Amino acid sequence: MLGLSAVSLVYLYYNLLVMDAKLIESLQKRYAVKRFDPTKKLSDKQLDALLEVARLTATSYGLQLMKIVVVEDQELREKLVDCSFGQRQVADASHLLVLCRERDIDLDHIEDYVENISSTRDIEKETLSGFKNAMTNSILTKRKEDQINWMDKQVYIALGKLLAACAILEIGSCPMEGFIPEEYDEVLGLDKLNLASVLALPVGFSASDDPNAKRKKVRRSQDKFVITI
Ligand SMILES: Cc1cc2nc3c(=O)[nH]c(=O)nc-3n(C[C@H](O)[C@H](O)[C@H](O)COP(=O)(O)O)c2cc1C
Repeated sequence: MLGLSAVSLVYLYYNLLVMDAKLIESLQKRYAVKRFDPTKKLSDKQLDALLEVARLTATSYGLQLMKIVVVEDQELREKLVDCSFGQRQVADASHLLVLCRERDIDLDHIEDYVENISSTRDIEKETLSGFKNAMTNSILTKRKEDQINWMDKQVYIALGKLLAACAILEIGSCPMEGFIPEEYDEVLGLDKLNLASVLALPVGFSASDDPNAKRKKVRRSQDKFVITI
């Protein structure tokens, strides 16, 4: 019995070591794709995995004041190239994800969330009234620009998760804030959905002549990046 446990522990430890190494290797290999191969498409399963990663992202209070818009319409994607300083990734990648925040937030967002907690966890709504009031007092009293800033930051967290997921799943991606959000909102009709674009994330597979593919990763060394106090 003792022997078996020891073997299991060694096996577990070995697996953890391999997983750590694999994670770092995936992150070292990923890069911002400059040129996508328009003929290579993600499978539905791959796309779905990415959308699920985004849905599972942590958000402040768990409110998820964000949505992902998957732009499939090729004509719209060509229009978005002009709103992205000519960056063709938005048209050439297999899929274009636009990470959005809510445009205006009000009590309905908070009430919907409380309703969701109540039904998911089978809790009386009255039990959640303290939590609801805390959210209402903290969020709805912020200035509009502070609300926007706060929501934007959370969209960037989702971006980080998506980039890591793409790396692990060997899907090419290019995080992009190089576009004009107001123009994206107009082309995609986002204000009608009460949304505002924050980030674009073209995903797919890089072209064989992608100039970024062979570039060495440039990062500060650990000793210039980590301070241990
Ligand atoms: C928030 C954010 C916005 C970015 N915007 C663009 C962009 O508009 N166009 C682009 O080609 N790359 C963009 N990048 C990619 C960065 O230039 C790239 O991540 C950085 O140079 C590090 O290189 P690596 O990701 O290839 O390791 C962006 C990256 C981040 C995180």
